[in-house]
Amino acid sequence: MPDIFDKCDVFWQRVKKLSGDYYDESVFFRKFPITNCLPEIEMDGKTYLQIATNDYLGLATHPEVRKIAADVTAEHGVGTPLGARPLTGNTTMHLELERKLAEFRRTEDCLVFNLGLGAMSGTIACIVGRNERVFVDEYAHGCVSDGAKLCKGEASWFKHNDMDDLENQLKACPIDQPKLIAVDGVYGMTGDLAPLPDLVELKNKYNAQLFVDDAHGTGVMGENGRGTPELFGVEDEIELHGGTFAKSFGTFGGYLCGPKKVLDFVKYNSPSFVLTKALPSPITAATIKTLELMQAMPERRHQLWENINVLRSGLREGGFDIGNPEGAVTSIFTKGALALPVVRMLMDKHDIIVNPVMYPAVPYGISIVRMTASALHTPAQMQRLVDAIIEVSNHLPLLEGNQAVAHKAVAHVSE
Ligand SMILES: Cc1ncc(COP(=O)(O)O)c(C=O)c1O
Repeated sequence: MPDIFDKCDVFWQRVKKLSGDYYDESVFFRKFPITNCLPEIEMDGKTYLQIATNDYLGLATHPEVRKIAADVTAEHGVGTPLGARPLTGNTTMHLELERKLAEFRRTEDCLVFNLGLGAMSGTIACIVGRNERVFVDEYAHGCVSDGAKLCKGEASWFKHNDMDDLENQLKACPIDQPKLIAVDGVYGMTGDLAPLPDLVELKNKYNAQLFVDDAHGTGVMGENGRGTPELFGVEDEIELHGGTFAKSFGTFGGYLCGPKKVLDFVKYNSPSFVLTKALPSPITAATIKTLELMQAMPERRHQLWENINVLRSGLREGGFDIGNPEGAVTSIFTKGALALPVVRMLMDKHDIIVNPVMYPAVPYGISIVRMTASALHTPAQMQRLVDAIIEVSNHLPLLEGNQAVAHKAVAHVSE
């Protein structure tokens, strides 16, 4: 007799079939301590070069950030305030962070959530009501898509960055039907950007509002690190800006910036804001500090980009097709589960840690060797990674796998 849990076995059968001899659970679910101690970590007496976290600016371990978190922990404890924001979780620190983020984002207001995932999914789910519509880029992060699945309105997905497909879908709706378009500023697997100026044009033409999850763009893109909206010069044209503190900020939690009347609605109607404990004070204080540092240390962003450029040009010279990433993520798409042994060999033979990305985060049949440089790395360390990848590809068919699927991976979403 079938039961509700049968799908769990089916899922693992599919994963094992895809992985074949390459199945390696210890690489898949890192059974070793991954820390943010960039650029190098110590493990079992060995030093590994780590190019695998989203701590793009290296702020997670900045001495001032550690100190303020330690001071606030000493004074208030680790988890306080132990209430939801509308109850006992609303401290002056949360309000200060919101005020500073709104200033940074140049929006009227800001709400701090205890998770980026909740900021995106909770906002979209509560803002798109009955008889309304949301249009989501099919490569948007799962939390953006989850918001669309949870909302009471109708949701549809348009082909990745395909403005014709989006326009056709918008055209098919009555002009007076309220609509939201939801995209990522930087796509976390491919590293490419949403065409924000085109999206602004479409949302104006079809009476829609625009939500941009700039989790990977903030701190990294734009002259002042204000993300993809700054890069494209469309900050004032985007109604809702979502983000996480778990990347460039180097801490934890998420936020939503936008008009006060919308945020006042979200703060009473989104379970992921109302019905959950507030962000702990040590993290809130640390995030105020990292926001300051992010703005005061543009040299970190410049160093990050120098590193990324060395990595990308080296991989391209080595014959890899890495697509056209413009954000900070660099990915080698490859066939089947090949990313698993590649990552294992980089670790065992070259003492380098990068990430494998597997189904279901990417379509069945491909995997990704995903690299995320930081400002704390050096160009020489990027070259070391490039040399190691080229050496690994003498033993494993990485280059062939990459050439076989590099374009197919993109075609998958545009077919
Ligand atoms: C684009 C994007 N949005 C949202 C999130 C979720 O952020 P958090 O880790 O704070 O839940 C992530 C994290 O991976 C992300 O990559």
